[in-house]
Amino acid sequence: MAQLTEHSPPVPETGVADLGPFSKPLFEDPSARKLARVGVVDVGSNSVRLVVFDGAARSPAYFYNEKIMCALGADMADTGHLSIEGRARALSAMKRFKKLADGMGLSELTCVATAAVRDATDGKAFCEEVRQATGLRIWVIDGEEEARLSAQGVLLGWPGAYGLVCDIGGSSMELAEISGGRVGRRVTSQLGPLKLRDIKGGAKARKAHIKEVMETLEDRMGSQRDRLFLVGGSWRAIARIDMLRRGYPLHVLHEYRMTRKSVSATVEYIRKNDVEDLRTLAGVSATRAALVPYAAEVLGRLIKTFKPKDIAISSYGIREGMLYEQMPQRLRDRDPLIEACRFAEAKDARMPGFGKALNSFIAPLYKSASGPRKRMVKAACLLHDVSWRAHPDYRAEVCFDNATRANLGGLKHSERIFLGLALLHRYSNKRENTRFEDLYGMIDERTRLEAEVLGKAMRFGAMLWMNKDEERGELRWFPQKKQLELWLTPDMVPLFGEVAEARLSSLASSLGANVTVKTRKRGKRVPDQISA
Ligand code: LMR
Ligand code: MG
Repeated sequence: MAQLTEHSPPVPETGVADLGPFSKPLFEDPSARKLARVGVVDVGSNSVRLVVFDGAARSPAYFYNEKIMCALGADMADTGHLSIEGRARALSAMKRFKKLADGMGLSELTCVATAAVRDATDGKAFCEEVRQATGLRIWVIDGEEEARLSAQGVLLGWPGAYGLVCDIGGSSMELAEISGGRVGRRVTSQLGPLKLRDIKGGAKARKAHIKEVMETLEDRMGSQRDRLFLVGGSWRAIARIDMLRRGYPLHVLHEYRMTRKSVSATVEYIRKNDVEDLRTLAGVSATRAALVPYAAEVLGRLIKTFKPKDIAISSYGIREGMLYEQMPQRLRDRDPLIEACRFAEAKDARMPGFGKALNSFIAPLYKSASGPRKRMVKAACLLHDVSWRAHPDYRAEVCFDNATRANLGGLKHSERIFLGLALLHRYSNKRENTRFEDLYGMIDERTRLEAEVLGKAMRFGAMLWMNKDEERGELRWFPQKKQLELWLTPDMVPLFGEVAEARLSSLASSLGANVTVKTRKRGKRVPDQISA
């Protein structure tokens, strides 16, 4: 991190400049796939937030996440200093976070501050006050660095993404270009909703101001017609309202997609409706909702200016960016979804490692499947047993719920439903009469059937627990002839009881196939499958 301002202490401990605000490397062992718990505080202009990451290094879980809406940047246009009330609240937040971090045994807590603290006349004094009270050092980053870090956060979830990242805070709005895993051009602006609220002259003056600033941003960023990634609480609030307006059933913000048309309609919808009414329906907090109309004006202008081909919400931003920043390339190259599933299996499955065996057992069904489908099959197999502790009456639903709402990167909403349905069918033949029926409609009938087949294949395969040195049987699948074969080994015969048999025929019926069961002699390979 090069652009730290004068409030930022140097990093004398290691002498390694690119550690940024961290006093030691987060990923000391590049082969380590588990993250030692890391705490980050983002002192934003609107909110002050503590996040503690834990779990799979490539796909960190939110071990702890607390946000306090301090509005440090409120009224700054008039006063030039941090909001007095906000400053007091932020100070108590920092004291609480420090205490929590100690309680969680975090070896350090890394704090960064953005627009309000960097621009306020008393920004430095505030950092000093926090230092005196808690011992915590706050790193104040400049606007371009803010843009860069939140773009890095987007890359955590979409490592190969290209497009434009827009991060809106309380007092600023940043743009950064990403392509091929790298952050390119970036700019910062004063288009934060707390700033816009202070503009004199009402809606008309604001509109003209936003337009003028946006034009200068366009000059600097050039044409950006690819995907627009939206980062920041105000964008998330608008996305919630967009979901409400469209009646979108899956209330997960990360990877939520919008079209330009839909965003324009929502911007209009916000303008025409009482925000108070919308906010209760959409589940947006009152403090957040107060800023939504200003943010909506910026978003409307943003999409008019850049005309992105589509728009996606990223829950990952500056805090995740600080983590991604330090990830060795080897770790970045891993699939965040598969890593998270592996981690869940190791932590929660009864027989960690069985997911892999299950995946190879059912693989013959997926010989000609696409890469993304094979990836889903793998994820499902790794997750197939992680909910075993749930009560049998609810297991199928718990599985669906977990997969569709999980805090996972690298997973489209339609893929969440696919994964959820597959895991539901791992426990249940039927999917009717659950409270999720409106969600099933997010994937088409054919894909639903594919999820059912996958679930049933896992449901059958899960009955075949065996020792590693025992000979496993094989599934053979001839799609053209609609013929499913199970080749049992002598080791496997005793496992193939009546329940297993019923599960196999249920799988065959979902495939619309005939099934035959054959037994081969010990040590004999099944003849190579004639590919159909
Ligand atoms: C901020 O400036 O506080 C933002 O980064 C996040 C928010 O909550 O608006
Ligand atoms: Mg921010």
